[in-house]
Amino acid sequence: MTLKGRSIVSIGDLSRAEIELIFRCAERFAAQPRGQTHLGRGFQLATLFFEPSTRTRLSFESAMNRLGGAVLTVADGAQSSASKGETLSDTARIVSAYADVIVLRHPAEGAARVAADAAGVPVINGGDGAHEHPTQTLCDLYTLGQECGKIEGLTVTLYGDLKYGRTVHSLAYGLALFGGRIIFAPADPALAPPAYVLEELRTVYGVEPEWWDPNDGTPMPTADALYLTRVQKERFSGSAAGTREYPRIDKAILKRWGVPDYTVLMHPLPRAGELDPELDNETRSAYFRQAAYGVPVRMAAIALILGIAEEEWASGWGGRHGATPGQGGALTDAHATTEFSAAGLSCANPGCITNREPGSAERRFVLASLDPSRGVRCRYCDAVVRASVGESPFGADERDATAKALLTGALLEYAPLGAAD
Ligand code: NCD
Repeated sequence: MTLKGRSIVSIGDLSRAEIELIFRCAERFAAQPRGQTHLGRGFQLATLFFEPSTRTRLSFESAMNRLGGAVLTVADGAQSSASKGETLSDTARIVSAYADVIVLRHPAEGAARVAADAAGVPVINGGDGAHEHPTQTLCDLYTLGQECGKIEGLTVTLYGDLKYGRTVHSLAYGLALFGGRIIFAPADPALAPPAYVLEELRTVYGVEPEWWDPNDGTPMPTADALYLTRVQKERFSGSAAGTREYPRIDKAILKRWGVPDYTVLMHPLPRAGELDPELDNETRSAYFRQAAYGVPVRMAAIALILGIAEEEWASGWGGRHGATPGQGGALTDAHATTEFSAAGLSCANPGCITNREPGSAERRFVLASLDPSRGVRCRYCDAVVRASVGESPFGADERDATAKALLTGALLEYAPLGAAD
């Protein structure tokens, strides 16, 4: 098992054992006095941020500085050559010549996968549109481990904007990987998780999430943690923006919901009025600790990707969080299936990088599961395009005979699933 040279685009790129390895290293870094590490000397980390950030960018930069390495930053993508029309794949390729690892944040779903394909060095997804934010999930799972004493089998309620909240999508997969019980609690029915996330949970992780309606007066099911999120206003188009405000969570609401004192309160931050500061000093409120763990967790991820973590740190992971050394994740057939491109087949998600920046990458798909009737999903943003029985849409220039053999006769019409709903 090695993370050396690997990109982290989705939390699904990591097995459970690899995540536990990162946590083992993170615990070692957390225990070190500041600035005492020189493992990263001579290495460069580039942060390319095309969307605002405080925690993610600065904790990555702090992590690299504390490893003794150096940092190159584009804090505002509008200031880069993207404003002159350079494609993301060109930018990623160019920056690979200047840095040993790239952290990318971008408004288009699937952008990090495009960059990872084009770059000659590992790419870490620092958030791609409404899609995923895997290193936030590493911080979240690490926090759960620190607060609850284990990660395995926890029950976590995910509340708020579950439609556009990328941290929630990655965290749901991460919890599933650790045998967790996921309770989705959208603040408003219009903010429920996209269908492709539910599909991925079912077909890839074999998990059926539960639901709780925070507005119908029923108490919240007992949970180890309540993960709050802000409304992602910047991702609403037009007049829908601002109509999805939800109430400020305070002591009174938590009491009304029947949330016990032992339920850990988490939030990826920033908050935008939905989390009352009166909760900040309560023992159960873990969100500032959660943000602080960003440094050791990201130090560990960088060090393992660069292959500079001390060997003895990486070995001997005894399983404080319930690990079984060498155990892979729950990933099943979907991540192993054949990739293909097909004439006339494009991603149904308008926010996908392949639609927002068509020149950046060839449109490619994978089967959503080995059952072709479940549809195909975009290689970059995971949006599922549902297929129904009938004739193949493949044109003469389709590349992959295996995919064609699997799909021919199984597809007639495509209806978008999950991207725009
Ligand atoms: C999150 C993000 O950018 O997705 N922030 C973070 O990285 N901690 C959450 C958010 O912006 O709401």
